Amino acid sequence: MKIAGEMEIVKDLEALSARAAEMIADRIRGSAAPFRLALSGGSTPRGCYRRLSHLHQVPWDGVEIYLGDERFVPPDDPASNYRMIRETLLASGMVAPRGLFAVPFDGEAENAAQAYEEILRQQYGSSRLLPDRPLFDLQVLGLGEDGHTASLLPNEPVLEERGRWVAVVPEGRREPRITLTYPALESSRLTLFLVSGAAKKEALARARAGDITIPAGRLQPQGDVIWLVDRAAADAD
Ligand code: 6PG
Repeated sequence: MKIAGEMEIVKDLEALSARAAEMIADRIRGSAAPFRLALSGGSTPRGCYRRLSHLHQVPWDGVEIYLGDERFVPPDDPASNYRMIRETLLASGMVAPRGLFAVPFDGEAENAAQAYEEILRQQYGSSRLLPDRPLFDLQVLGLGEDGHTASLLPNEPVLEERGRWVAVVPEGRREPRITLTYPALESSRLTLFLVSGAAKKEALARARAGDITIPAGRLQPQGDVIWLVDRAAADAD
């Protein structure tokens, strides 16, 4: 089924970063605490997070920050999404969130997934996702050229997981991944996709069309969706 949602096309990645930062800041400013914000990893959102860290009048003391997925590596590993967020959103020292919930690295990947799921359940206050009470207020998602989002990678068993909120994706990338599953990713008041570059053109069109042969096309967000894309990804001239 087509993923409804408005698409906003901006000139390039720099414009996308600025616009996304303002969108996130405005959403936080206009919401009650606690504001649960789930962040994507990867490279696209770096500029947005860096800009966001310098915006003023953002009530970060009411914001709980989560990760939509993580590479199962030490927190100081260059591949770590948590490290990327520390180097961008937290680098200015102006962002002191109510909570920053990184995926635990201790033990095995499965332990980390279970521990993260427990954190989500504790903070949410229920072990069942309630349709009228989304887990997140805003979720930032990226899109891979192969149509993955978070670490919902093509042809992986995690695509069939509808019970757990967090799962291990042991194959498919250099390191094991810990990812939120469809039920958790779909439980957000607003889902903001950030997509930049011509290489994402096909994946973007297929995802927006709800093409279920790619992971992002199978997402059924419960809340609003905004696709913030640059001209190259939108194939706009
Ligand atoms: C990750 C992300 C992943 C990312 C896409 C796009 O951990 O890498 O969560 O889903 O959003 O792979 O990555 P780029 O933004 O680097 O193109």
